[in-house]
Amino acid sequence: MSTHGRGPIRSTLAWLEERAGLGGAIAPTLDHPVPRSTASWWYVFGSATLALFVLQIATGICLALVYVPSADGAYQSLLYLNYQAPFGWFLRAVHFWGSNAMVAIMTLHMIQVFLWGAHKYPRELTWIVGVFLFLCTLGMAFTGQILRWDQDAYWGLGIGASIASRAPGIGDTMVQLLLGGPIIAGRTLSRFFAVHVFLVPGILIGMIGLHLWLVLRIGINEWPMPGRAVSRETYRHRYEEEVHKDGVPFFPYAARKDMVACGVVVLAVVLCALLFGPFGPHGVPDPTLIDAAPKPDFYFLALYALFALLPPWTETVVILIGPVIAIAVLFLVPFFAGTGEKSWQRRPVAVLAVLVIVLIMATLAGLGVTVPWSPKMEAWTAAATPVRYVQGRTPLELQGALVLQNKQCRTCHSLGGEGGRRGPALDGVATRQTRDQLVRQVLQGGGNMPAYGKNLSPAEVNALVAFMGTLRP
Ligand code: HEC
Repeated sequence: MSTHGRGPIRSTLAWLEERAGLGGAIAPTLDHPVPRSTASWWYVFGSATLALFVLQIATGICLALVYVPSADGAYQSLLYLNYQAPFGWFLRAVHFWGSNAMVAIMTLHMIQVFLWGAHKYPRELTWIVGVFLFLCTLGMAFTGQILRWDQDAYWGLGIGASIASRAPGIGDTMVQLLLGGPIIAGRTLSRFFAVHVFLVPGILIGMIGLHLWLVLRIGINEWPMPGRAVSRETYRHRYEEEVHKDGVPFFPYAARKDMVACGVVVLAVVLCALLFGPFGPHGVPDPTLIDAAPKPDFYFLALYALFALLPPWTETVVILIGPVIAIAVLFLVPFFAGTGEKSWQRRPVAVLAVLVIVLIMATLAGLGVTVPWSPKMEAWTAAATPVRYVQGRTPLELQGALVLQNKQCRTCHSLGGEGGRRGPALDGVATRQTRDQLVRQVLQGGGNMPAYGKNLSPAEVNALVAFMGTLRP
């Protein structure tokens, strides 16, 4: 091939093409015909998720250049990124908002695929690989939260480990695997760093390749028409026919909307990063501060709320078996609904299932935000003791009211409807507890209440209990 008379770029490209032949391999992919109906705004969530993944890799690599994956260096390196490294705060913010957006858009993608019947024959394997991708991404989200190595991460992981340790038989092994030892220590962080930076991203990249290969091989799902049921005998033939008669080249016809969507989500993430900044880190991890209230990022809020609301005796069963069943159901969806109607207009059960799940998750997540079991830290500063609880009290009892106010009991307990909701309201406590029980509760705590034994003088305890003894409705 002569390169005579061409520009330098073209001749370089021609040189490369003659040897690598990549253009020849990519061109049929870009030109391959797809059903005209797939050029829809409903079909952009998959590529938008991919765009966010690329953004996560780019920002993740930059962060890894500075982040110190050691128990005593991690927190400092995050502060360094936040306040000293040029644009460090921005990188952290984009990585954080990108991860949130990736989980959100991927969930939309999954719901869309399900409602449009794209998991049905012959795309079952594409769905299964997709579920793997979903789980891996949640794994990235969880391990990423731990790398934020602050109070929330430390205690969140502690809770995760204690859940894992309850698994009968394999509990201890699972904790060892998760933490790299019996307790959260330096090795734990190294482990999570390796998983977050090498292991899961590697799996993700491979699986995304497989997912896209399957999409290309089998073809993008046509727009489902009510009444046009999928059957194993006729489907592929009919699809080929439709693509031949009325297909359009994937690029640029169908890819145009994808590219716009990718641009929009990336811009939205950058905008959120600029407006809201990076998240955390919240407090140096400190194993001696047990009254932390770790709260997970939004995608785990629903689970967090669920676990908190479950009656304690159901927890072990539900926490250990629930996720296994949920994941199994996700994997099996294309097997018990692999053929038949594709359009959501003819699949009331499918639509109802999605609605119910989304409603439950949203409600639980909402509960997770306004958690009744977490302390309301501003409660004690704002709320005065209601007047009717101080009227006609002895000096000792009044002093007890002061202790209750000063020791910030109301971050967790309400009085006259004002205060935290982690502990029970104290309004009628005198009818529930004897004097001795009150003393014991204050000194020893228990059931999610810190022990105040060392922080109160005997005189203060005496006054406090005298005051609480007057609290009747
Ligand atoms: C971190 C949150 C928190 C703080 C702060 C807290 N408590 Fe509690 N408290 C709880 C919880 C949770 C319970 C329920 C314990 C249980 O279920 O066994 C509780 C229970 C009690 C009870 C028993 C109530 C009942 O109706 O059975 C009393 C009395 C009590 N707390 C007094 C106090 C006093 C006095 C203070 C301040 C010195 C205080 N608490 C600070 C969380 C807290």
